[in-house]
Amino acid sequence: MFRIAAHSFGAPDQVLSLETADRPLVERGQVLVRMRASPINPSDLIPVTGAYRHRTALPFIPGFEGVGVVADVGEGIDPVLIGRRVLPLGTAGCWQSWKTLPADWCVTVPEDLDDDEAATAYINPLTALLMVRRLAPKPGDRIGVTAAGSAIGRMLIRMLAARGARPVGIIRSFAARQSISTECAEVVEEGCSLPALDSGLDAAGGAPGTLLGAAIKPGGLLLHYGLLSGQPLSHAGQASMTLFRLRDHVHAMPREAFHNAMSECFSEIRTGRASSLIEASYPLEAFRAALAHNRSSGRRGKIMLRMQPYT
Ligand SMILES: NC(=O)c1ccc[n+]([C@@H]2O[C@H](COP(=O)([O-])OP(=O)(O)OC[C@H]3O[C@@H](n4cnc5c(N)ncnc54)[C@H](OP(=O)(O)O)[C@@H]3O)[C@@H](O)[C@H]2O)c1
Repeated sequence: MFRIAAHSFGAPDQVLSLETADRPLVERGQVLVRMRASPINPSDLIPVTGAYRHRTALPFIPGFEGVGVVADVGEGIDPVLIGRRVLPLGTAGCWQSWKTLPADWCVTVPEDLDDDEAATAYINPLTALLMVRRLAPKPGDRIGVTAAGSAIGRMLIRMLAARGARPVGIIRSFAARQSISTECAEVVEEGCSLPALDSGLDAAGGAPGTLLGAAIKPGGLLLHYGLLSGQPLSHAGQASMTLFRLRDHVHAMPREAFHNAMSECFSEIRTGRASSLIEASYPLEAFRAALAHNRSSGRRGKIMLRMQPYT
């Protein structure tokens, strides 16, 4: 039984290490989940660097989403949950063999979704769903999407197109252009001039985000939700800019609304709009190779960490 933990902040490949982990005791109101799979997302690595050190306790175990099986329940929780496949959400800590959490943050996984679909059903699908809902595009609206070849960029393009909007995918690599060529009618390279846009979704910040903001018509909305370029967004256009963070929304939602939103994510995965490509899988113990693969250029899908099967 293992866990990947950081005992200090720094570069993930330097401060994360593999540790053995004992099966924890489950407390009242909690469930104990035997983890099966968890992807590497950008949001897992940012806290390791110390970017949010004021709210990140050490040791920090990354992994904001994943799938596992309920192994035990604490006092007050129905034992019928034992053996059920669930997403243990709401906190980090999916990169380990065992995760304990409050029972009401466990989302039961429908049987028709496989482990890879389940493990990637939360962070990007729910963010994309909520942001598209927030934009409320009208048919024909032109909406710019930076980092359009990223997993969430592709979900946004598919969801916008399904609502009759016209996504404009902004990409920086040939591989990204290839990955969205069948899904996005209009693709523009970073730095090239953009058409007039009704609104925009930015995961890059820096120059691409700034150019996107400048192309949005006065009164349009720019949702800024990521900083892949590592540079802040300097928005001086006439669009109104709003920062979007998934955790602000899910922690403020009544838990029933959260479970309903996850059901919508499962439906979006079934349609293919919120599905993620998996490029490779590694055992949890091989997390260093997995991190190196995750950093490689031209990567076109998620890197999945897998835990030893339950024996
Ligand atoms: N705010 C929130 O609540 C929230 C929720 C979910 C995701 N996000 C953010 O969304 C972003 C994408 O996440 P993901 O899981 O979809 O990522 P991902 O697919 O795992 O990888 C990001 C991809 O974006 C491209 N990229 C990297 N740096 C870029 C840059 N400077 N400009 C343009 N493209 C770049 C890379 O493709 P190429 O090398 O081919 O360009 C890379 O494959 C991240 O910043 C993440 O933190 C935010």
